[in-house]
Amino acid sequence: MLLPCPRGPVTQLLSEWLSSGSALDEADMHARVSAALAGGDVITADDVQLSLWLLYELHYQGFDDVDPTWEWRPESLAVRRQIEGAFEAALRRETDALVAYAMSAAGTLADQLFALVRDAESPPLARHLQRYADREQLSEFLICRSIYQLKEADPHTWAIPRLTGKAKVALAEIQFDEYGSGRPARLHALMFAETLDACGLDPSYGAYVDRVPGVVLAASNAMSMFGLHRRLRGAAIGHLGAFEASSSLPNRRYAAAVRRLGGGESAARYFDEHVEADAVHEQVAVRDVCGAAAATEPELIGDIIWGAAVCLRLDALAAERLLDAWSAGDTALRNLVDGTARTRA
Ligand SMILES: [Fe+2]
Ligand SMILES: [Fe+2]
Repeated sequence: MLLPCPRGPVTQLLSEWLSSGSALDEADMHARVSAALAGGDVITADDVQLSLWLLYELHYQGFDDVDPTWEWRPESLAVRRQIEGAFEAALRRETDALVAYAMSAAGTLADQLFALVRDAESPPLARHLQRYADREQLSEFLICRSIYQLKEADPHTWAIPRLTGKAKVALAEIQFDEYGSGRPARLHALMFAETLDACGLDPSYGAYVDRVPGVVLAASNAMSMFGLHRRLRGAAIGHLGAFEASSSLPNRRYAAAVRRLGGGESAARYFDEHVEADAVHEQVAVRDVCGAAAATEPELIGDIIWGAAVCLRLDALAAERLLDAWSAGDTALRNLVDGTARTRA
């Protein structure tokens, strides 16, 4: 993958930093980031979220045109830290009400997490796809999903060395499934790539980064932030719990959408797999990962619930973005000036 196109002053300068060895003007970068963070909603701001996504990507597959030593250079970490401070604060504000709701629910932590997933408001994206969407809308949905799904499970894997005992074992059990249960052909990220391919889309990693709106990058960035900070390990596993517990039914609808629109069995396979797998994963993630971690480290409970709330809220915001655009007869994707993505591998 090559560096995606800049979306504003921060990504412009960051791309120059990452792609050349020229002298770095850190004061200029700090000022640009401050201006971008002051300029609106951090969660949806394209320039802010793409900057963070670029910096996190250095920890995953990286870029063909970026020196891999950038992963740990103090200058890139300083930019990351500045944005993360504002992003974390925005996510905490955005989920205040959801966290309070879950905390007030009766029962164990597992009961509270399931109540949150059951009762959190969520736009009817899956139902729309199942019943009404056209092929174009299905493609847009798959393109937005590709940002996370092509690195499916990786952000939560960072949490494994940060847990102990039963919680660590349970998380490793889930991730073993996500990584194909010993069969490379069943790697979930690869199965999603096959769905893209079967639907006539580009399955290569990062192919659509230029096309997706900031809020879609934010959903991926939140997972990376939780995974890459040990202090946020509670949020990482809470996010996983909500992710798994809100997955099975929508995936049944996505599979139906793909079949209704002629995608065929190979396109539906990824979603079929998740109807069954995530019905099991939600129990393991909520009870055995989150429950066990909370039993040994009760101070994590607040962040476990917060991470779950972030998962549900960002998913809802992204769904809203898609449905709003479609109901106005628009595309939910960013239109590129020259109509091409520079990010093809
Ligand atoms: Fe999966
Ligand atoms: Fe899963």
